[in-house]
Amino acid sequence: MTALHTALLALSWFDYGMCEGGFGEEERSSVLPRDTLDWRGIFRRQLFLQVGDDSFGQNYLQNFKDNKVDTTFVGVTKEAATGVAPIVVDDAGENCIIIVAGANLKMTPGDVERAEAMIRGASVVVCQGEITPAATLTALRLARTHKVKTLMNAAPADASLDAAIIEHSDIFCVNESEAEVLTKLKVKTREDAEQAAEALLQRGSRSVIITLGGDGAVYSTAEGHAHTAAQKVTPVDTTGAGDAFVGALAYYLAYHPRLAMKEMLHRACQVATASVLAPGTQASYPTRDQLPSHLF
Ligand SMILES: *[C@@H]1O[C@H](CO)[C@@H](O)[C@H](O)[C@H]1NC(C)=O
Repeated sequence: MTALHTALLALSWFDYGMCEGGFGEEERSSVLPRDTLDWRGIFRRQLFLQVGDDSFGQNYLQNFKDNKVDTTFVGVTKEAATGVAPIVVDDAGENCIIIVAGANLKMTPGDVERAEAMIRGASVVVCQGEITPAATLTALRLARTHKVKTLMNAAPADASLDAAIIEHSDIFCVNESEAEVLTKLKVKTREDAEQAAEALLQRGSRSVIITLGGDGAVYSTAEGHAHTAAQKVTPVDTTGAGDAFVGALAYYLAYHPRLAMKEMLHRACQVATASVLAPGTQASYPTRDQLPSHLF
């Protein structure tokens, strides 16, 4: 593999395994040992975000470097603090996240344009909702221009999401609550998810994935809907499962592009399931050697 395969634009990697209840350096380093290779670290990726000129920012940078993530396009700004997202996890393993976007909102379309060569060389561009919509849209547009596949994970959901972002998504991926925010439809069952997916397809996405936690995911295109089941487990902490799913899917799109979508989703669900069996977000991601080799 030569060029960069995945450009991942900015990031919920704020959510740094803080749910164990500490914000101090010790807690964080104890849940994220230096040699942890986050699952997404198995493919070369380019990270695009801004951090503040503060200790959180320094920690992020170090963590990315330790995980062999290319940080060429990680900007350090003095104008805002590094984004953070304190997370509370309840007894059922469900989470509540408060996002303080901070420095990521300082990213401009111009910053993204400067990375055009990187985007052109990628197999997949993954975006999500924690940088400014204008920067996200610029990335998706550039990807389209260069015929690079786009995977938009609209998390966190914003009811007033720019329609052009949906139109520029080859795959538009949300969980059930995000689908509700975006479509104003109730999304509890698989049938509900199919209806919400229809609504999102009508808004211009080429395909839609709605993840349903323990119920797997629904994948929808103009041709119809397909459901992928997930293995039943008792979750410890569901935080980060969506990111594990999206990261795994991006890996399959980049490295196994000829796999049937059904198989990619089946495998991505397995990776996400593995991530809910351990506490934390990045810290809960299994490393490559902790996952069955048939996933690769
Ligand atoms: C969906 O993702 C959001 C983050 O955007 C998270 O706060 C929420 O708990 C998730 N919903 C479910 C049902 O997992």
